[in-house]
Amino acid sequence: MKFFIDTANLDEIREANDMGILDGVTTNPSLMAKEGITGADRILKHYVDICNIVDGDVSAEVIATDYAGMIKEGENLASLHPNIVVKIPMIKDGIKAIRYFTDKGIKTNCTLVFSAGQAILAAKAGATYLSPFVGRLDDVSTNGIDLIAQIRLIYDNYMFDTQILAASVRHTMHIIQCAEVGADVMTGPLSSIKGLLNHPLTDIGLQKFLADYAKGNK
Ligand code: G3P
Repeated sequence: MKFFIDTANLDEIREANDMGILDGVTTNPSLMAKEGITGADRILKHYVDICNIVDGDVSAEVIATDYAGMIKEGENLASLHPNIVVKIPMIKDGIKAIRYFTDKGIKTNCTLVFSAGQAILAAKAGATYLSPFVGRLDDVSTNGIDLIAQIRLIYDNYMFDTQILAASVRHTMHIIQCAEVGADVMTGPLSSIKGLLNHPLTDIGLQKFLADYAKGNK
């Protein structure tokens, strides 16, 4: 399973990248705003800054919601760096735009996905990545991981190439559950990734090894 980090914070991206486990980055307009990155020029420069840190796919989201606007914006985003993936919302014009970019060899990430039907449409349009939002489904008493498993089954039935990018991952258990049901990629906050490190027996065991070494090497 590929690990993407879901943030526009450059320090967090650097920290995850320095661990040697980062495969890419996802962002969205809310995450950009959270870092105080506003205005088209600053946002575009920020995408380039991210691409210069990570050697992997970086999702950059269009703001337009009409076909012509998404094409114009997406082409501009794709021209910023070879690793840019154009992130497009799951709407009718979005599906059409995904087909356009697929035919031009430009990678896409279909976002705001909450159902298996939407997942089928995005795969038919040739999306590179599909982003079902696990945490936001959990928020409305619907099991987000179950949707990942359902899409996995459907995509395997038809050998769709679209990669399932489990998004809105909020915590460490989500990552493990995504791996159990076969998500191709997960994107989550740095805290969820670092949570995978933790086990009290590791800490106790390390303390004991170091204490025993110290005893024997006085
Ligand atoms: O990748 C999608 C993500 O940014 C949404 O996460 O936590 O706002 O539901 P969240």
